[in-house]
Amino acid sequence: MSERKPLRSQAWFGGQDKDAFIHRSWMKNQGHPDDVFDGRPVIGICNTFSELTPCNAHLRDLADYVKRGIWEAGGLPLEFPVFSTGESNLRPTAMLFRNLASMDVEESIRGNPVDGVVLLTGCDKTTPSLLMGAASCDLPTIMVSGGPMLNGRHQGRTLGSGTDVWKLSEDVRAGVITPQQFAAAEAGMSRSAGHCMTMGTASTMGCFVEALGLALPENGTLPAVDARRRRLAQLSGRRIVEMVREDLILSKILTRQAFENAIRVTAAIGGSTNAVVHSLAIAGRAEIPLTLEDWDELGRDVPTLVDLMPAGRFLMEEFCYAGGVPALMTRISHLLHTDAPTVTGQSVGENIAGASVWNDEVIRPLDNPLVAHGGIVVLRGNLAPRGAVIKPAAASPELLKHRGKAVVFDNIEHFKSRIDDPDLEVDETSVLVLRNCGPKGYPGMPEVGNMALPKKLLARGVRDMVRISDARMSGTAFGAVVLHVAPEAAAGGPLGLVRDGDEITLDVEARILRLEVDDAELARRALDTVAQPATSRGGYERLYIDHVMQADTGADFDFLVGKRGAAVPRESH
Ligand code: FES
Repeated sequence: MSERKPLRSQAWFGGQDKDAFIHRSWMKNQGHPDDVFDGRPVIGICNTFSELTPCNAHLRDLADYVKRGIWEAGGLPLEFPVFSTGESNLRPTAMLFRNLASMDVEESIRGNPVDGVVLLTGCDKTTPSLLMGAASCDLPTIMVSGGPMLNGRHQGRTLGSGTDVWKLSEDVRAGVITPQQFAAAEAGMSRSAGHCMTMGTASTMGCFVEALGLALPENGTLPAVDARRRRLAQLSGRRIVEMVREDLILSKILTRQAFENAIRVTAAIGGSTNAVVHSLAIAGRAEIPLTLEDWDELGRDVPTLVDLMPAGRFLMEEFCYAGGVPALMTRISHLLHTDAPTVTGQSVGENIAGASVWNDEVIRPLDNPLVAHGGIVVLRGNLAPRGAVIKPAAASPELLKHRGKAVVFDNIEHFKSRIDDPDLEVDETSVLVLRNCGPKGYPGMPEVGNMALPKKLLARGVRDMVRISDARMSGTAFGAVVLHVAPEAAAGGPLGLVRDGDEITLDVEARILRLEVDDAELARRALDTVAQPATSRGGYERLYIDHVMQADTGADFDFLVGKRGAAVPRESH
């Protein structure tokens, strides 16, 4: 029988020397008896709880259930806080801080006496930031999502987070509803603990990590307030202790096959475009070769089966009650690596073996998909030499092949000051172009790519137009929106060369995004154009602008790519 690997935590808590005394003695101020330091696995619970991140505000409660499971399995749970990147409050954009949070996670894990970690996440950026940091350390790791809110309900109708904000706010601008009616919907939309319950980025990432095999089955869909989520947290606590004993480190699960499964599941659920940029960053940390092209190729033949907002009709509660991710995976099992390992200790195929679909309206059969070819399309052309993305399922089909005249906005303030100008030369065939909203340009690549439509067109009933930017958009948003144009304008990308009235061709089926201006003219314009990253006030913003990479490689910092492991040979005393 092979010898069990010595526990990492024993380098702190084992032995009888001065350093061991220090490590144990100070921990005993929390009331721990001697025997908890006797060689049992120490599990860090990495918690993104914050009252300023409302989607994660219930995670202290969930952590208690994780702890129960860890104690039951013979481990020692130690909870610690990390930077919580809340989407709804953080300015100028939570994405600016994803990489900062990942650094916090990585160093907190590496610097502390833990043998394994439970990652407690919820809101959009909290999931990728924790996984990026953990991947660079590569200890046994399991994820527990906070789960979605219950369906929004207001005045007899169902409301979806984000998606209905965009719809209702356009209705106000179009004069269809009053500002008072708009405000009255606030409490009804967010009426329980949890994250956005549309298939936005948080739900997408919760399902993504389940498909990666990094969370227990049903992690993606169980509502935050469903008692079964507490059960899942407790079982995850038990399981991480076993994973430490089995030396089931993150890199044994986070393989190329796991990413391929997760990309296909994202296509089948109609997941957020933000999953693209996050997955590329996570893969970079895990040293798994993954490209933008993989998203197009792997998702191309996958039908979108899950009929959820923003592309479809239902919300996460219905997806859960219909069987969730395991049931969905049975429907596309022919497209998956069912032999891929997972945190349960079993393969994907074994995990989903007993799953059934309970509602064919929500998880549709293969012969009646919501969208025949789901997935995220990667566009190329002289306007996006390193690529851009669009989610066809969320766009008006008639705009997927379109040629129109550009109306250009140099930055978000320029956009806001002009979009409702009655004299703006724009009609429903125009292409709205927004630049300087990429990683370096904003800075932080905010979710402003789904630009609001001009008021005068809204009043005429127009609800979708082709929009192009180097920004991202909320996963809860919809429209013919081309995003993540790389390189961004502030890094010298051709988006900076577009002028009002230039013709632009979008052809999603042919994967083309082209500025109909000849090369000689573009070269002339380039001589007059100075691409400039955002000016910074110094501090973290300076670090970000200097080191952030472009969207096509995940917008991570160049110096964070890769694994650095968990070893720390030096002591502080
Ligand atoms: Fe947190 Fe949507 S704002 S998940």
